[in-house]
Amino acid sequence: MFGFGQLISVLKKNPKKIVFTEGQDPRILEAASRLLASTFLSPILVGNPEEIALVAEDSGFNIRGAEIINPAEFDRMDEMVDLFCELRKSKGVTPEEAKKTLSQANYFGTMLVKMGIADSLLGGATYSTADTVRPALQLIKTKPGSTLVSSCFILVRPSATGGNTVLAMGDCAINIKPTEDELVEIAAETAECAKIFGIEPAVGFLSYSTFGSGKGEDVDRMRNAAAKAKVKYPSLPITGEIQFDAAVSPRVARTKCPDNDVAGHINTFIFPDISSGNIGYKIAQRLGNFEAYGPILLGLNAPINDLSRGCNAAEVYSMAIITAALA
Ligand SMILES: CC(C)(COP(=O)(O)OP(=O)(O)OC[C@H]1O[C@@H](n2cnc3c(N)ncnc32)[C@H](O)[C@@H]1OP(=O)(O)O)[C@@H](O)C(=O)NCCC(=O)NCCS
Repeated sequence: MFGFGQLISVLKKNPKKIVFTEGQDPRILEAASRLLASTFLSPILVGNPEEIALVAEDSGFNIRGAEIINPAEFDRMDEMVDLFCELRKSKGVTPEEAKKTLSQANYFGTMLVKMGIADSLLGGATYSTADTVRPALQLIKTKPGSTLVSSCFILVRPSATGGNTVLAMGDCAINIKPTEDELVEIAAETAECAKIFGIEPAVGFLSYSTFGSGKGEDVDRMRNAAAKAKVKYPSLPITGEIQFDAAVSPRVARTKCPDNDVAGHINTFIFPDISSGNIGYKIAQRLGNFEAYGPILLGLNAPINDLSRGCNAAEVYSMAIITAALA
């Protein structure tokens, strides 16, 4: 069953540091003040200390004890510039260009993780998804065994029978139109993430067709991806291509695909592209009363996550715990 308690107990055993790239945002400062009152996760705020202190005072948040790092006065900037040039040497980046790039908090914060000064990063309160994710793609790169960075959302809603209904949905935020092989990787990563949140994954490759009821390139792509995933991960319950109703409703599944015992019980949904995924999770969130946590980035070599620009302080706090617990 999903609960922040489990993630917090993971962190209590092994406290972490998390960088917030938007250190002057009141929502970040509110979340940071809550974290500072805890012992399991220490915030590092990127920005000008005087300006951060002013915003904190104006908004009434106590951030005493927070580590604040100002890119303009960072004492290890030369080392950071050298490492940045090394990491981007295939692009011919000069030290001057590196210095300019590293004056931006999204790149600077990502390098704090790369240098091991922080374990994880949360950005995107004001940066777009692309501006939060791009430095991570360029500098942190994929973890060993992964070829792709993707993402998933964890959706949580109290269930009628007690406890919570917890679902995973991928990739709703990064890859525009994944290939068959990319979908296989997204499914495996999403299933792994689902397990962290207490889901016993049953994976469905979603489509407008259930086992050949509709025709088209996208149908073939989802069917082939499901077939490849079944071969690669034989112990994982996987099905597709499948429509959403047959994926979640045992009654519809009995009509549309009576011989399939995974259909009707899917809890880990793989969308054909970012449009369907992004729209799909938001429908669950706005009309289905699910809390949506994410996008949680998958396949990266360090935990870095993106906030929605419409986020509130409670969401920043939750995402910080999720991000750091993945470290
Ligand atoms: C994620 C995203 C920003 C990357 O695209 P981009 O900024 O144009 O990045 P580029 O194509 O220039 O690639 C930058 C680097 O990241 C790498 N990269 C891009 N996508 C990648 C992926 N999915 N996985 C791993 N690496 C990736 C590239 O290989 C490149 O590496 P290099 O610079 O070392 O050669 C882009 O896919 C995107 O905008 N996705 C949609 C985001 C969005 O709007 N979501 C909806 C709101 S939640």
